[in-house]
Amino acid sequence: MMQTSDRNGDSRPASAGRESAHQAGAPLLQLRGIEKHFGSVRALRNVSLDIPAGQVTALVGDNGAGKSTLIKAVSGISEPDGGQLLWESRPVHIRSPKDAAGLGIATVYQDLALCDNLDIVANMFLGREPRHGVLLDEASMVRGATKALADLSVVTVRSIRQAVGSLSGGQRQAVAVAKAVMWNARLVIMDEPTAALGVTQTGVVIDLIKALADRGVAVLVVSHNLNDVFAVADRLAVLYLGTIASEGAIAEYDPQRVVELITTGESAMRDQPVTPSTIATARPEG
Ligand SMILES: Nc1ncnc2c1ncn2[C@@H]1O[C@H](COP(=O)(O)OP(=O)(O)OP(=O)(O)O)[C@@H](O)[C@H]1O
Ligand SMILES: [Mg+2]
Repeated sequence: MMQTSDRNGDSRPASAGRESAHQAGAPLLQLRGIEKHFGSVRALRNVSLDIPAGQVTALVGDNGAGKSTLIKAVSGISEPDGGQLLWESRPVHIRSPKDAAGLGIATVYQDLALCDNLDIVANMFLGREPRHGVLLDEASMVRGATKALADLSVVTVRSIRQAVGSLSGGQRQAVAVAKAVMWNARLVIMDEPTAALGVTQTGVVIDLIKALADRGVAVLVVSHNLNDVFAVADRLAVLYLGTIASEGAIAEYDPQRVVELITTGESAMRDQPVTPSTIATARPEG
């Protein structure tokens, strides 16, 4: 069911990661003119965004800018009202989380999607357990889980038989990411992965995100923390009142410019202005 072919991380060493991804051709996922309405609220307005493999794309914006709405559109939780999604240049409809998983899109939420009462191995194989006849193939589950965690250099977990409920926020995040990698996720989406974490755990998650991109995975990460954004992102997109106010390589930005873009939708440098007045007069899609 899951696509396993043509995954960049399988065919080249991890060290070939981030630079070579720039030559990878078309972005893995392209959003084109995405629209989403909630009654009279236009939560997303003509949003176009490229999400390349092997790179970390950071999505920033003020409260209510539309970040979670955009993530839900891509992860199949709530279909857009308009626009198009292209996966490897082919138009796709992502109508359910199952559609997203089928393409290789995994969304990691810090506190959801893992079962506290089950151990790490059970969580990583939940619903997809390998079997010997009627019995679970515990040995291959343990091998798979151990390898996935080791591949991402997750060393802080005491035992893979530990219940997930006893893990720290950063460790939970690590298990969720390792699970996504084990099931060959090609795009990993993270909504505020470090929001609830301390300094050390934040460092662990930042390293994990880099490791994912080095394996050729596309990462889309929503964050309010500009330190994290500048530590991890290759590309940046700023949402302002549902519109992409700016998008580009992280090297084009400094924190002050990003703050301006987040708070006003424009900055003194180079960007196409998106002003509240142009948005107020924009007509809802009919
Ligand atoms: N289910 C919904 N019903 C109605 N309005 C919604 C719904 N979900 C989001 N909205 C509205 O859409 C807009 C964008 O919300 P969204 O949650 O995407 O923002 P966000 O950028 O994730 O904000 P935050 O940083 O606070 O998480 C807001 O105006 C919000 O009120
Ligand atoms: Mg949100």
